[in-house]
Amino acid sequence: MIILYWSDVMCGIIGYIGKEDAVPIIVEGLKKLEYRGYDSSGLAVCGADGFSVVKQKGRLDALIARLTDCPVSANAGIGHTRWATHGEPSDANSHPHVGGQNRIAVVHNGIIENYKQIKERLARKGVVFHSQTDSEAIAQLAEYYYDGDLVRTVIKLLHRLEGSYALGILCADNPDILVAVKKDNPLIIGVSGHGHFIASDVPAVLKYTDRVYYMEDDEIAVLSSGGVQFFNTERERLHKTLETVSWSAASAEKDGYPHFMLKEIMEQPKVLKDTVSGTLGTGRNEQHGLDDIDIRGYHKIVIAACGSAYNAGLVAKYVFERLTRLSVETEIASEFRYKDAVIDDKTLVLLVSQSGETADTIAAMREAKRKGAYTLSVVNVVGSTLAKESDAGVFTAAGPEIAVATTKAFSAQLAVLYLLAIRFGVQIGRVAKDEEQMYLAAVRSLPDKIREVLKETDAIQKYASVCVGYKSVFFIGRNIDCAIAAEGSLKLKEISYIHSEAYAGGELKHGTISLIEEDTLVVTIATCERLYAKIVSNAEQVLSRGAKVLLIGNAPAGDYDGRLVRIRLPEICELFSPSLSVVVLQLFAYYIAANKGLDIDKPRNLAKSVTVE
Ligand code: AGP
Repeated sequence: MIILYWSDVMCGIIGYIGKEDAVPIIVEGLKKLEYRGYDSSGLAVCGADGFSVVKQKGRLDALIARLTDCPVSANAGIGHTRWATHGEPSDANSHPHVGGQNRIAVVHNGIIENYKQIKERLARKGVVFHSQTDSEAIAQLAEYYYDGDLVRTVIKLLHRLEGSYALGILCADNPDILVAVKKDNPLIIGVSGHGHFIASDVPAVLKYTDRVYYMEDDEIAVLSSGGVQFFNTERERLHKTLETVSWSAASAEKDGYPHFMLKEIMEQPKVLKDTVSGTLGTGRNEQHGLDDIDIRGYHKIVIAACGSAYNAGLVAKYVFERLTRLSVETEIASEFRYKDAVIDDKTLVLLVSQSGETADTIAAMREAKRKGAYTLSVVNVVGSTLAKESDAGVFTAAGPEIAVATTKAFSAQLAVLYLLAIRFGVQIGRVAKDEEQMYLAAVRSLPDKIREVLKETDAIQKYASVCVGYKSVFFIGRNIDCAIAAEGSLKLKEISYIHSEAYAGGELKHGTISLIEEDTLVVTIATCERLYAKIVSNAEQVLSRGAKVLLIGNAPAGDYDGRLVRIRLPEICELFSPSLSVVVLQLFAYYIAANKGLDIDKPRNLAKSVTVE
């Protein structure tokens, strides 16, 4: 069965009800959510005279301009920023969607899989659809069911919808309530003295409150200026715990930097300090179930993740294998979930994710649990699905990461994975007490060493400024440097749109070297002293064919008439050197994209949290 529909699966939703004008609050929230999708945006407010809806294709700035031309205001409203997966961004496909009788307005993040059946049935009853989205079916169906009681209407709706959703629902007959529900997509409820919020994630409300409820699947939140109530789909009252978020509002601002990505690169020394001290128990990092893990009970470690988180797994494989002598497999989560993996209750499966909401990684976790494996998640977002559902979890302390291209969260993931490897190495008796202290001291030295690397920013910026013209770039390394080369290549691709590939240095001569010609750029990572000679000879192989080399590390090498440029790194145990080389790789990619004048924080075709398959 082929279902062709336009769906909105990686969007940001926000809502407010209270004493203040909802419009500026919603616009502010959409600004914080735009990294989730930026193909179109819109809002609807509900006053005594019904809905005012302003929505359109394009970036949020376009919506803000339109709101300046035709201002609307009310004390209750919902907003949406869209990432179109199927079908083109357009005004009609933008959210909010309103029912044909202007009674119910909806913003939706997710997929409605039985949308077609709903649409056909309603169309037979004379309902006219204005968009190609699955989300409009929700608004039209809700209006069809509406009997004056919005909560009862929503409960009826939930029994009919199939798929995933985070919804914000307003009703013109009752402008004093805002209803929100979720299933398989993130949704939080924010509480403040002047009003209450719904949002896809915490940074969208941080300016107004740090007190939030994390919604579970199939829970219904009913917000009014008087307060927030929760119900299940039997309309029984639910009691939920109000939590205080440790992130500050400032952490979701740019602090004067031109881009969130540069700010987040520069935050890495503090992020590493917080993450390391947190994970070692001297800080505030929340953990659960870690003490229950005795690695001696496991024969294999599997690391499953996507994108950069997968690359963190590639690095961690070297560290875990070196310190535990257990075999470690790294798995791309979207493959792992369908490959019938050879795992069992003697397998420890690590799930690594910044957002904790990546659909493929969540599915990999559920598949691992189905096969009896013990699941341990390394996640940055408290309250996320991965964090809640995994058997054990450790949080990175990167704070909100706004730029689509991950940097500080990636570095924090590496630090947590190093500390887990050391912990398991001691547990399994492969790491002696003095070695443990040596490794821990090296990990604790990372914040200062990263500060050292950041002093190379100007040199990296200068080098990057002459690299904007490259159509293709190669990244090479050996062993753990080969793993971090993959992250360097991904960073460059996702924000500069320059094609690049990462290779094991020794693999070049088996084919790829045929692509090396005059002026090809080969970024060479060389931090493993025992392999200096090997990787330098690989660099010489490409230099001899006219390539240019950016050498990251301290391997002794000439400058080949200026065709080899080097960025030195502070000395550190090779197992932790990716935390230093990656900072150079992040800045290199950043400054190339900046020189190209690209939208670095919101690269084309990408979204921060990939909540679909
Ligand atoms: C990395 O810069 C990208 N944003 C992307 O590859 C990301 O790492 C991937 O989508 C996984 O996201 P997660 O860490 O939130 O699971």
